[in-house]
Amino acid sequence: MQVAQLSQQRQSTQVAEVIPSGKGCGAEVRGVDLRNVDGKSFGVIEKAVLEHLVVLIRGQSITDPELIAFGKRFGELEPPGMSIIGKPYIDEHPDILVISNIVENGQPQGNLGAGEAIWHTDMSYREKPVTYAILHSLEVPPTGGNTYFANQYLAYGTLSDELKKKLDGRLVIHDETYNSGGQLRKGFKEVTDPREAPGARHPIFPTHPVTGKKALYLGRRRNAYIIGLPPEESERLLDELWAHASQPKFVWGHEWGVGDTLIWDNRCLIHRRDSFDAGTRRMMHRIQIKGDRPQ
Ligand code: SIN
Repeated sequence: MQVAQLSQQRQSTQVAEVIPSGKGCGAEVRGVDLRNVDGKSFGVIEKAVLEHLVVLIRGQSITDPELIAFGKRFGELEPPGMSIIGKPYIDEHPDILVISNIVENGQPQGNLGAGEAIWHTDMSYREKPVTYAILHSLEVPPTGGNTYFANQYLAYGTLSDELKKKLDGRLVIHDETYNSGGQLRKGFKEVTDPREAPGARHPIFPTHPVTGKKALYLGRRRNAYIIGLPPEESERLLDELWAHASQPKFVWGHEWGVGDTLIWDNRCLIHRRDSFDAGTRRMMHRIQIKGDRPQ
């Protein structure tokens, strides 16, 4: 039998298996090759993402075009937010956001550097934030740089009735000026009053359009504001809500290996990343899927 036939046979007999993390969110899907996912296995992956919010698929060896082709199975791709160099990192693939601390000839090769990336939702500063994000690792540091996710359905579900009632129907400002690594986006100026921060205004408790469940939807803490509240009250409540949203009981974290791929539902999770030794290398490629206005 030819090698091509053999590999064809292997791919067509793949059976995707879902192993829940047992934590606040997260599952691993085994038995798939992202270069060639049949309809049945794709269905398993999509269902697992909706159920467990973030899915890990280990050890994938995929090119950028293959990553893009896989991402398009979820829907149309959304170009990433403004990079810190003011243009896409990969000219042929502007839909890919490179996340890296590597600097070559004085030029950063990606966003976020080696510092901590604080809790956030991807691109919620847009009117129509992305639905899913897919992050694929190409180089990982020996330690650090782990990524954590917190389930915001659970965060909403465990809020006090009093807080739910007080905040129901309110909008939050999702500031666009800084990325989660604290880097000022090219073309933006420092914000002095959060009430005037540039970025979308979204409901604090939107309903997920597929699952029909409500989630707490905060975006990112810096320059956030709950519209209509006195600024001091908004600050106090946002501190309280962020402490609630990021409790360990809602969290699952991943220690990366090369080729690992995470797919997450950006509508009902927040995520953060640990810092790592700036003298080591980390290189990830991320794509994201177009979404609708949260309702
Ligand atoms: C991100 O926020 O999408 C990046 C997370 C990471 O670098 O692990």
